[in-house]
Amino acid sequence: MLNFHVITLFPDLIDSYCRTSIIGRGHAQNCFTVRTVNPRAFCQDNYKRVDDKPYGGGYGMVLKPEPFFLAYESLTLTTNSAVILLTPQGKVFNQSLANELVALSDIVLISGHYEGFDERISSICSHEVSVGDFVLTGGELPALILIDSIARLLPGVLGKSESLINESFHQNLLEGPQYTRPPVYKGLAVPDVLMSGDHKKIEKWRRFEAIKKTYLNRPDLLAKANLSKQELKDLEEVKRSLAEQNDNNGRQI
Ligand SMILES: C[S@@+](CC[C@H](N)C(=O)[O-])C[C@H]1O[C@@H](n2cnc3c(N)ncnc32)[C@H](O)[C@@H]1O
Repeated sequence: MLNFHVITLFPDLIDSYCRTSIIGRGHAQNCFTVRTVNPRAFCQDNYKRVDDKPYGGGYGMVLKPEPFFLAYESLTLTTNSAVILLTPQGKVFNQSLANELVALSDIVLISGHYEGFDERISSICSHEVSVGDFVLTGGELPALILIDSIARLLPGVLGKSESLINESFHQNLLEGPQYTRPPVYKGLAVPDVLMSGDHKKIEKWRRFEAIKKTYLNRPDLLAKANLSKQELKDLEEVKRSLAEQNDNNGRQI
């Protein structure tokens, strides 16, 4: 059983998301647990202050070490655990880290707020993780991003209709385009091959469309994808035809 422990000043944000939709269903079915711990409960002064002015001067308030250390020390963890500080200064989160973390029994997620943490808090962490190169007001959304992406990998969380097969980042490719009814909408038609009933042809089309989309949106991934000689040749053809189109309509692709 995987247990998430979220150290946060705003537990309601975590609780409400974890009660909703697919993650809510997995949570209710005990596929994993999510517990929140509020560092404010561990403040030892009468005012329950979790932050203070930065040493050396500067703007904003910094989260004090004591309430966060005490909140962490209150947890019961197995040795198969990770303690993750959510910070824009961390390594950027991705699917392969989610795939790694899902094998653990306990994941502690420490969410900051205000100007961020006293640096000493990082000494209790095994990882520093960012959700992207931008700054949010708090670590609750990042904590939920990790919980969501990790929990959905656990058995029983996704139903048959929300499968992990052929998803983006599987085999370093993005998922190709998907269509549903109607067959034509506002003059935009579903590709014939998808309605052909020929499963081999559909599979081949899907794989190549995934390669094309990855080339267009995330060429950095493509270098690590395992493409066959024929696929590489077909991709060269696509690149040539896109470059031609580009020349013809002066558009940047
Ligand atoms: C306003 S931010 C602090 C930013 C910090 N002063 C800096 O410049 O690095 C407050 C908190 O939000 C969370 N946060 C903000 N952006 C994040 C990101 N991209 N990834 C993970 N956590 C983030 C962190 O927990 C952080 O301590």
